[in-house]
Amino acid sequence: MRVLVSDDLAQEGIDILKKEFDVDVKTKLSEEELMEIIPNYDALVVRSATKVTKNIIEKSNLKVIGRAGVGVDNIDVDAATHKGILVVNAPEGNTIAASEHTIALLMSVARNIPAAVMSLKNKKWDRKSFVGIEVRGKTLGIVGLGRIGKDVAAKAIGLGMNILAYDPYIINNTLENTHIKVTDFETVLKNSDFITFHVPLTKATYHMIDKDQISIMKDKVILINCARGGIINEEALYEALVSGKVGACALDVFEHEPPLESPLIDLPNVVATPHLGASTAEAQINVAIEVANDIIRALKGELVKNA
Ligand code: NAD
Ligand code: MLT
Repeated sequence: MRVLVSDDLAQEGIDILKKEFDVDVKTKLSEEELMEIIPNYDALVVRSATKVTKNIIEKSNLKVIGRAGVGVDNIDVDAATHKGILVVNAPEGNTIAASEHTIALLMSVARNIPAAVMSLKNKKWDRKSFVGIEVRGKTLGIVGLGRIGKDVAAKAIGLGMNILAYDPYIINNTLENTHIKVTDFETVLKNSDFITFHVPLTKATYHMIDKDQISIMKDKVILINCARGGIINEEALYEALVSGKVGACALDVFEHEPPLESPLIDLPNVVATPHLGASTAEAQINVAIEVANDIIRALKGELVKNA
């Protein structure tokens, strides 16, 4: 059996795969280059750089595609399913990394940390421009109360925040944490001081925040997106940030990455990081091991954990 790893994957995962199969690591391939070599492989392992398109899938003889991370939106899952190819992910390994990054972004916006750091590095001693706000006693709206959403809630409760959450797929009374109030989407949008998103990018969540949704939010609301670009309509967000309806936002993800031409990143009330949610040493090892083990199970015909 042959496995192709087409994005940077932690060595720990590659070593696990190498004990069982022939493994090639070839990164930064174009779609055409990948299409040319893909018929030689039984399994493909990606992170987010490789877009596993219908063209690639149709050319392949793959049995399994593995995503070393949570979101599988860079894989055409319908095309894979149609061809009988299993798609597995690594849903647990980067939960802590993503929730810690979300809290870091929240505090960065609340206390103007990136702008204050830049000011001091530019040799200015300006204490007046960076008066922040406290998060204690404020309401944090959480859209998507899965692994990351729940962990963000637990951390924010520790900071003294009140939590309102929206997730149509969870049952309120199954929640262990009774400080989380699960309610409808509109109630979260209308009553939150901060809103953070932890949903996958799907047809249902694409642009779930647009002009209409922003219009019912509190004035000067602060938005945080450490999930996926595309969940918030970036044009509507830009207008709301310029008008001041949205007070500030923190973005780790963008509809088109890298977003180097996006006017959003030039706004003073935007804190932006280059898709770093899962970028901790620990998380990269965790997801590499998690996905490698499922690739082995799949190629050996055993039951996989994360299909
Ligand atoms: P998860 O599957 O545990 O949780 C997602 C939750 O969203 C589920 O509870 C689901 O019921 C809910 N949901 C689905 N559709 C919804 C909708 N229309 N409205 C409200 N809720 C909805 O996943 P997770 O581990 O918490 O990760 C969430 C997302 O975060 C991933 O899909 C991924 O795209 C993103 N992510 C980003 C980074 C990063 O580097 N920035 C890192 C990890 C994950
Ligand atoms: C994920 O979906 O797990 C994250 O976005 C992390 C990544 O892309 O590496």
